[in-house]
Amino acid sequence: MLKIIIMILDKNGKHTHVSQYSYLGKSLLPIRKNSVMIEMRVICFQNDIFMQNTIIINQNRYHILQKPLFDNLSMKVRKTIMNLHIFQNQQELNEAGAGIITSLVQMQPKAVLGLATGGTPVGIYEELVKAYDKGRVSFKSVTTFNLDEYVGLPVDHPESYHAYMQQHLFAHIDLPAAAAHIPNGNSADLDAECERYNQLLEEAKQIDLQILGLGHNGHIGFNEPDHSLISGTHRVELKAETREANARYFNSINEVPSHALTMGVGTILKAKTILLIVRGADKAEIVHRALTGPITTEIPATLLQTHPHLVVLLDAEAGRFFE
Ligand code: GLP
Repeated sequence: MLKIIIMILDKNGKHTHVSQYSYLGKSLLPIRKNSVMIEMRVICFQNDIFMQNTIIINQNRYHILQKPLFDNLSMKVRKTIMNLHIFQNQQELNEAGAGIITSLVQMQPKAVLGLATGGTPVGIYEELVKAYDKGRVSFKSVTTFNLDEYVGLPVDHPESYHAYMQQHLFAHIDLPAAAAHIPNGNSADLDAECERYNQLLEEAKQIDLQILGLGHNGHIGFNEPDHSLISGTHRVELKAETREANARYFNSINEVPSHALTMGVGTILKAKTILLIVRGADKAEIVHRALTGPITTEIPATLLQTHPHLVVLLDAEAGRFFE
């Protein structure tokens, strides 16, 4: 039996358990007396740079985890632990995703939502708008924070994430404009803009539900693979593969901005619940690696394995390695 403890080390290397990370949640198997193996995932912030390491404690001996822990578990157990659901059709997935969001907002009208862009959540936003039109949910007291925005793309450019959010969600619901936050990629001072966004996030305390898509290279938001990851909102240079992947939304790759502002992985992982949505055969391998492979900053989405309340919705194509 396994017990997963998430521990945060502060900048000085002091151990500080942060309650939302000390996980003994419902989707894990109950912990039995005399359990012999404890897995501890240690996350360190060093000068605000995100590093990670994974350690297994077997009784009192410490071992660096060399191979994925999940190797030893059956697929059924893995799926339960990961709260992973595979849908045979897109409509069911959209309804399930929208259902999770509307239930949260119904129960908690002042919820703070973390929003994603890209092709993945479009159908879920459509379902949210339908729920709003039917009077089943109101967003008038909700606050939202978008994950990211391109640098230097005018907000009225159809591919800016400002325009995307208007088109797919904001223009159709009663969310007050002042409660919808998106990083300003056109700020004259991008560092100050990141600071402003971090400040707003801090004032909001915690995102209740963070919606996430997945990049083909394992990025979340625009946190690109790297030897270390940054905790807070920052400016990022987009990888060639990300610009190529997103070129499908522009007339040509030359139009895809080279930089973006993105919420950092520290902020994403602080969300109370994370809803990861992945569709399509082209993401089957990366989502499998992200959720079952070794945790590494070279695949930022692997850090989601450390999150206490991760819910994963996959279509059948993206989920084929989990069947
Ligand atoms: C984009 C966004 C991500 C998104 C991902 C996948 O670049 N920054 O937030 O999740 O890449 O996009 P799509 O859903 O279009 O495949």
